[in-house]
Amino acid sequence: MLKSTLLQAVQAAATEIRKFDEADFKISNKEGINNLVTEVDHASERVIFEVIKAAYPDHYILSEEAGEIVQDSQYKWIIDPIDGTVNFAHRIPLCCISIGIEYKGEMILGAVYNPFINELFVAERGQGATLNNKKIQVSTKEDVVSSCLVTGFPYTFLDMPNGPLDVFDRFIRRGVAVRRLGSAAIDLCWVACGRFDGFYEHKLQAWDSAAGFLIVEEAGGQVTDLNGAPYSPYKPGIAATNGRIHNELLRWIKGDLPR
Ligand code: IPD
Ligand code: CA
Ligand code: CA
Repeated sequence: MLKSTLLQAVQAAATEIRKFDEADFKISNKEGINNLVTEVDHASERVIFEVIKAAYPDHYILSEEAGEIVQDSQYKWIIDPIDGTVNFAHRIPLCCISIGIEYKGEMILGAVYNPFINELFVAERGQGATLNNKKIQVSTKEDVVSSCLVTGFPYTFLDMPNGPLDVFDRFIRRGVAVRRLGSAAIDLCWVACGRFDGFYEHKLQAWDSAAGFLIVEEAGGQVTDLNGAPYSPYKPGIAATNGRIHNELLRWIKGDLPR
C-alpha cells in the first residue's frame, strides 16, 4: 500500500539520520552562501530510494540531491531527504524528512518526520491530517497583528523588490511576531497543528513544500501563492495560514497594509 511504503521510507531515513547522532559527517556547499549539503542528506535519500524502488520500481521520483528519475508513471514522489540542513549541520533538532506523493498531478499523500523530537505529520487527501496519529487542526486566530507567523529566507535573491527582507522588515517594525525556524516543511506542519497562525516564503522548491502544503490543507488551513492564486509546489511563493488571516496576510505581504 502506498501509505505504508511512504511511512516505511520516512522511518528508514530517520534511522539513517540517527546513525550520525554521535558521529561526524562531511559538509559541503551548494549555490549561495551557507547553502549546505551533508553526507547524511545523501544517505537519507539513498535509503528512501531503496524503499520506493523495492515497492514501486516504475514510479517517478523528484528528489533534492539526486534530481529526477523520470518514468512514465501517474505517481510522483517528491522528496527532501533533510529539510533544515543548516540546522542539522549545527545539531539543532529542527529538521525533518519530507515526502509528498502526487497522483495525476495532484498531491494525495504527505509525510513530514522530525526524528529528533519524534514528531510525525501525515496527511492523506480528503482524510485529514495527523501528528503522531492524532488529528490536528489549524488555529482560530482572526488577525495578523495578534498572530504568530513564521517565514524563511532563500539562499539567493534576497534583494528582490518587496522581497523577503522588505516584507520581514514591515512585520517586525509593526510588532508582529515572526519566527524563522530554518525548515519550511516544519513551518508548514506547525501551521497545520496551530502553533503558528501563518507561514509565507518567497522562493521554495517543490520538495520543501510538497508534503507540508497538503498537511496544512488537510488540517483545515488555506494555501496559495503570494498573490492569492491556487498553490502549486512548482511555483516559488507560498502563503499558508489558518484561513481566517489569509487575505489580511496577503495584503501585508503586498505592502497594502490595514490602517
Ligand atoms: C531550506 C529550508 C529553509 C528555507 C530554504 C530551504 P534545505 O531547505 O526549508 O527553511 O528557507 O528556502 O531551501 O536546504 O534545508 O533542504
Ligand atoms: Ca528543503
Ligand atoms: Ca534538503
